[in-house]
Amino acid sequence: STSSALDRAVDFVRQYCPDGTFGVDRDRTGIVLGSGLGTLADKIESATVIPFADIPGFARSTASGHRGQLIVGSFGGGDVIAMAGRLHRYEGWSNEQVAFPIEVMVKLGINRLIASNAAGGVNPKLRVGDLVVISDHIDWLHRRGSFSAKADSKTIAGSIPQRAGNVYTPELAQTALAAARANGFTAVQGTYLATLGPTYETRAEYRLMRTIGADVVGMSTVPEVQVAANAGVAVLALSIVSNVADPDRAIVADHSEVLQAGDAAAVKLEHIVRRVIHAAYSK
Ligand code: 6GU
Repeated sequence: STSSALDRAVDFVRQYCPDGTFGVDRDRTGIVLGSGLGTLADKIESATVIPFADIPGFARSTASGHRGQLIVGSFGGGDVIAMAGRLHRYEGWSNEQVAFPIEVMVKLGINRLIASNAAGGVNPKLRVGDLVVISDHIDWLHRRGSFSAKADSKTIAGSIPQRAGNVYTPELAQTALAAARANGFTAVQGTYLATLGPTYETRAEYRLMRTIGADVVGMSTVPEVQVAANAGVAVLALSIVSNVADPDRAIVADHSEVLQAGDAAAVKLEHIVRRVIHAAYSK
């Protein structure tokens, strides 16, 4: 069953790490590092690095620019569990499979999740390298493999998967915006639209996305943050604009461009994650 697969993965991670790593009642942050945003992983101290492929029940991450490792250690003065790389619907995984590592993190005791991604800038004000603090989302991941009522124990009337009323924690968003200001770069709040991929969009689709209120578009994050929020974990989600989704120019996004932009913007992400974790300890 799902729960025993989860227990096996959790036990494996516990046993892989030094004794005492997962002491109870400790503040702990889960981090998901998106496409090209993996540099933070190298700055995690006292790191235990576990390849996804070794963890029972973890699906293999195949997208390029993703390392496929779970890294347990400390960052910004706090305990962290980071995913360097994630799973995507376009690789063929269901929402449950994509969010499985988050369930593992929840069982390992995270009380906060910071999810990052590289996204296309739909709002015409956005430029490559800009950072967007996600305040809401539009979920276009509805297809076979979306959350089934059966797989999600938290259901309304036993049939409709629960949707957390407020997935994104306003206090964390405010801390992220303050961190950006303190480090001399701007960040704005915005709406993330999640598509199934793997293809990017047509210009007509970008025009549609603008019309319905999307600021950034990407192919991840939503299943992860939904699972975290349903478990009562505070959520911060960040997009780095890796390319501009312009309906008026016939430029098609390509994956290498997405990865390159990530390198430059990864530093911004590090500043924010550091500050958010630090803030949790100075309360
Ligand atoms: Cl332009 N579209 C989608 N769906 N995902 C993206 C993207 C665009 N840029 C980065 N990820």
